[in-house]
Amino acid sequence: MDSTDVQADLKHVLYTKEQIQQRITELAAQIDKDYEGRELLIVGVLKGAVMVMADLARALHSHVSMDWMAVSSYGSGTQSSGVVRILKDLDTDLMGKDVLIVEDIIDSGLTLSWLKTNLESRGTSSVEICTAFRKPDAAKVELDVKYVGYDLPNEFVVGYGLDYAEKYRNLEFVGTLAPHVYE
Ligand code: IMP
Ligand code: MG
Repeated sequence: MDSTDVQADLKHVLYTKEQIQQRITELAAQIDKDYEGRELLIVGVLKGAVMVMADLARALHSHVSMDWMAVSSYGSGTQSSGVVRILKDLDTDLMGKDVLIVEDIIDSGLTLSWLKTNLESRGTSSVEICTAFRKPDAAKVELDVKYVGYDLPNEFVVGYGLDYAEKYRNLEFVGTLAPHVYE
């Protein structure tokens, strides 16, 4: 969907499809370089990271394996609960692997901080994080995020994988919603 499809629900478009693609291509080039000669496993966090995984993986010029995890910390509201549960675990044995966690957004950073520690405890050779978007609050937790697409204002956003009550994930851009949508 593009902005004309959801015009009535939309407050602002923050990053266009073109801007997102451009930044993903830059991150992919950096990842190609950093992992040259190594075997990389990219781990997408369902469901939000589906779009960035698909675009990032295709922008890479190196072979990568892809696996998926589903964790829950949010429910259908807009506040992070800090409670993380594994809903779907990886199929891959991580022993000795270089792992790159791919996320849609880091808000409080609680989910990623928990996930990074969890994967590191499985005997990985390295675990790094790549996120399409990051909010200012992410700075409050000590979390080393190696690859960041764009920093966002401290507002709830949707699109490019990010939902509000399971809607708007399939917007090709990222934007904020008009207040009437939440009411
Ligand atoms: P954190 O644990 O607060 O960093 O939250 C991480 C997860 O919350 C993300 O992976 C998203 O699924 C969800 N989330 C955080 N902020 C937003 C937002 O602005 N829009 C949609 N989902 C969000
Ligand atoms: Mg997510």
